[in-house]
Amino acid sequence: MAATYYDLEEMSKRLRKYIDANRFYHTQGVRFTSAALAMAHGADIHKAETAGLLHDCAKGISDSKKIKICDKNEIEISKVERNNPFLLHAKVGAYIAKEKYGIDDEEILDAIRFHTTGKAGMHMLEQIVFIADYIEPRRNKSKHLPEIRLAAFRDLDECCYLILKDMLLYLKSKSGEIDSNTQDAYHFYEEVHEDRRD
Ligand SMILES: [Fe+2]
Ligand SMILES: [Fe+2]
Repeated sequence: MAATYYDLEEMSKRLRKYIDANRFYHTQGVRFTSAALAMAHGADIHKAETAGLLHDCAKGISDSKKIKICDKNEIEISKVERNNPFLLHAKVGAYIAKEKYGIDDEEILDAIRFHTTGKAGMHMLEQIVFIADYIEPRRNKSKHLPEIRLAAFRDLDECCYLILKDMLLYLKSKSGEIDSNTQDAYHFYEEVHEDRRD
């Protein structure tokens, strides 16, 4: 069966109405960075571009509406998500991508679902979007970005390890709550990192 082709220009036009200009530019950055990472690592370029384009499609939805969408569609909300509803834009994004943009590819939906927290043992598309969201050209917050960006094109597992380490450091410095998926992901990729050094 031929792979589904999604009309990304049509989706892009539609998406533009639901997110603000800055978010839209970020989205374009993630779209093309995801495509570049797919090229570097031999993943499906079209799927990476689609997931990158739609990863923040729920970002314009209010917190209360995101909670409502979850409750209505039996999407589980963790305690950390309840306290930090902005995190829900990932899960709700996967729902919107499926229902409103017609995405039926589970790998793309997974990549959207876990782009914020990461998770242990991500598949390649999940890794690509998780990384692209962190390194796209307009990002400038982390002082470790130069080494993280280099790692992204060399070794996806090592890059996930570096990003998760950076995220946990940041969250701890802010005494922010840490989602269990992020914690699990860190342990998973830390182990991969340690195993390689043996
Ligand atoms: Fe996001
Ligand atoms: Fe994003």
